[in-house]
Amino acid sequence: MKSKIILGVCGGVAAYKSAELARLLVKGNYDVKVIMTDSAKKFITPLTFQAITGNPVLSSLWESENNNAMDHISLSRDADMILVAPATANFIAKLNQGLCEDLLTSVCAARSCDLVVCPAMNTYMFNNPPNLRNIKQLQDDGVIFIGPDYGIQACGEEGKGRLTEPLEILKNVEKLLTIPKLDGIKILISAGATIEKIDDARAITNLSSGKMGISIANQAWKMGASVTLVKGITNEEINPKINTIEAKNHSEMERVILNNAGNNDIFISVAAVSDYTLKEKINGKIKKNSESLILELKKTNDILKNTKEKFPNLFCVGFAAESENLISFAKQKLIEKKLDMVIANEIKQTMGSESAEIVILMNHQEKIIHQMPKNEIAVNILDEIHESFQK
Ligand SMILES: Cc1cc2nc3c(=O)[nH]c(=O)nc-3n(C[C@H](O)[C@H](O)[C@H](O)COP(=O)(O)O)c2cc1C
Repeated sequence: MKSKIILGVCGGVAAYKSAELARLLVKGNYDVKVIMTDSAKKFITPLTFQAITGNPVLSSLWESENNNAMDHISLSRDADMILVAPATANFIAKLNQGLCEDLLTSVCAARSCDLVVCPAMNTYMFNNPPNLRNIKQLQDDGVIFIGPDYGIQACGEEGKGRLTEPLEILKNVEKLLTIPKLDGIKILISAGATIEKIDDARAITNLSSGKMGISIANQAWKMGASVTLVKGITNEEINPKINTIEAKNHSEMERVILNNAGNNDIFISVAAVSDYTLKEKINGKIKKNSESLILELKKTNDILKNTKEKFPNLFCVGFAAESENLISFAKQKLIEKKLDMVIANEIKQTMGSESAEIVILMNHQEKIIHQMPKNEIAVNILDEIHESFQK
C-alpha cells in the first residue's frame, strides 16, 4: 500500500523546488496531496502540482473535497506524514502559535501523524531570534525539521536558509516512513537523574535532564514496542500511554529494574544513576557549624552489569557519557559489562542539551551519528537496536 503524504507548499522563492520534490515523491511511489497557502500560488500554479501528483490541489478551508466539509480533519487522519516544503518564517510562526487560519495550518494542528518542516528563507530571516525560538519550541514539541542548508541564496546573500535539496528531503522522508516496527517487542528503559539523600534536607544528584531516555521511550512506543519506563528525576514530557514506574534513588532504580528485567526483551539503561551514595544516612539536618564538611560516600552496585549477569539473554544497551577517551572507555564498558551495545557521547556536548552526537558501539562495529535533535537520535538508536536484536 502506498504511504500518503500531504505536501504543504508556502509562499517562498523555493516553492518552485517543491514541484521537483512532488515529482520525486510520486516516483518514489507515495500518494501525494498538495496543500498550498494563498501566498504559494503567487510563486507557482496549483496546476503544476495537480499535473505532477494526479490529485486535486487544495488551498481553502472553505471549499471542501468531501461532503462533510471537514477536510482539515479528514486529510490529516488519512495521511502518514505532513511534509511542508518550503516552510516560510510566517508559516513556522503560525505553527508555533497554534494558529489555524488557513487549510495548511489547520491540517497541521489537527494532525495525528508526523509533521516534517523544511524551512527556506533569507539567512537573516532564518537567524531572526523569534524564528529560531519558534523552531526550537516546535522541535521540543516533536516537529521534525530538515534543513535549511547553507549556501548562496536567491537574493544573492550567503548563509543558512536554503531549502534542502529535494533528493535529500526524499531520502529523509523514506527513512522516517520506513521506521522498523517494534511490534511485540518489550523494552525496559531507565531515564533521568537520581538523588541520594545527605540528611533530611540535602541531597546529591546530577545534571541529567532525562531528555535522551524519554525521547527513546516515546519513540519506542511510537514504533509499536511495549515500553516500561523507569523514571528518575526529569521534567520531560512522557507519553501518558507508557507504563511508567518512578524510581528516585539508586536503590529504588535497582529494585524496579531487577524486578522488571525478566519480563522484557531489551533493556536500555539511559538513567544517570548515582555511582555513590552516603555511607551512613544522617538523621535530621547537619548544622553548618564547621568551615568544612567531609561526607563519606560508598560505591553503589552497578545495576546494568548486574542486570546483564542475572538475565544473560536480555539485550542490554548502556550509555557512556565521558569527558575524555570517549571510545576507549565506551569499549571497556561494552566488554566488562558484557553488553550488546554501548552509546558513547561527549558529556559537555550532551548533558542537558537539546541535541547530541553519538557513536554506537557493538562488538565489531562502530557507527557515528552526527549532531541532531535528541528525538531524531532516538530513532537512529532504535533502528540499530532493532537491526542487531533481530540477528
Ligand atoms: C518575492 C518574495 C519572496 C519571498 N520569499 C520568502 C522566502 O523564501 N521565505 C519566507 O519565509 N518568506 C518569503 N517571502 C515572504 C512570504 O511570502 C510572506 O511572509 C507570506 O506571508 C508567506 O505566506 P505563507 O506562509 O502563508 O505562505 C517572500 C516574499 C516575496 C514577495
